[in-house]
Amino acid sequence: MQTLSDAFGRAATDLRVSLTDRCNLRCSYCMPAEGLEWLPDDSVLTDDELVRLISIATGMLGVNEVRFTGGEPLVRRGLVDIVRRTAALDPRPEISVTTNALGLARNAKALAEAGLDRVNVSLDTIRAETFAEITRRDRMQDVVAGLAAAHEAGLGPVKINAVLLRGVNDDQAPELLRWAIEHDYHLRFIEQMPLDAQHGWRRDTMITADEILAALEAEFALTPAQEPRGSAPAELFTVDGGPATVGVIASVTRPFCGDCDRVRLTADGQVRNCLFAREESDLRTALRAGASDLELAQRWVSAVAGKLPGHGINDPSFLQPTRPMSAIGG
Ligand code: 5AD
Ligand code: SF4
Repeated sequence: MQTLSDAFGRAATDLRVSLTDRCNLRCSYCMPAEGLEWLPDDSVLTDDELVRLISIATGMLGVNEVRFTGGEPLVRRGLVDIVRRTAALDPRPEISVTTNALGLARNAKALAEAGLDRVNVSLDTIRAETFAEITRRDRMQDVVAGLAAAHEAGLGPVKINAVLLRGVNDDQAPELLRWAIEHDYHLRFIEQMPLDAQHGWRRDTMITADEILAALEAEFALTPAQEPRGSAPAELFTVDGGPATVGVIASVTRPFCGDCDRVRLTADGQVRNCLFAREESDLRTALRAGASDLELAQRWVSAVAGKLPGHGINDPSFLQPTRPMSAIGG
């Protein structure tokens, strides 16, 4: 078996597959209110094409974890079937989904039966007004119902990703953590990253990991968790002596690129080595031109071999990628 290794000693074993760039929310740190110009339908990989690329990654290239992302992956009609076919691969990867949970209440059971192992749900607040302000849709109760359904269906540990925005929800970290712990959800705060389509991110207004931790420590006793962090992006802390934990993903102020084990496939069939990459490697054209599995695997190997050591957000010359987060996947 070959591996997807780079010049800095890392091997990509965690594949993030974006299933669509579309979404039914409009989070202000992600998309403008009017949405974006979506990828043309004929550029988006079909279910068969996707499953073929996933099977090459898991069968020939050492990938052992597959995470489906978007946009919003639940808006892709074939999701349950894609999960089922991914779970039938040998070797079978771990399978998870990052979702905003709209519609998850309806689908959680079918997804679990199809072989989904876990979900990560995006939820930045448990106040309906703040939710509507951030996402521009009054749908918080659907997310709450989706989380409960995921927990009930055994898609655990159910994780919640939260982004704090200055002046919007940065005073709500403790209440969100208290609510998450009560419901047995594992909460992780993610530093806001320069990935929004509107290019509105500013270093001087983003909420840093230090600020997040200080806000939590005003109400909870946090202790660094003992487990080795490995390639996991979240720094984990036990809350009030445990067993509950909270995570902080400090992509901007405490980058963890040196331990990165991720590689991304966009909905239109491009390999990206990083959320912040400025280069992509096209697999779709070769795939549609009839390339063999071996040839596609070789292309993938060369794509990852050129992975840069880090995201460069903190370099003076940093330029935000042209593709927004919603077209890359989290
Ligand atoms: N910075 C940090 N996190 C973001 N997400 C989307 N855009 C950003 C951003 N600019 C989060 C979503 C979701 C995951 C895919 O990434 O809230 O949880
Ligand atoms: Fe949709 Fe996720 Fe972007 Fe929010 S952050 S608009 S849920 S893709």
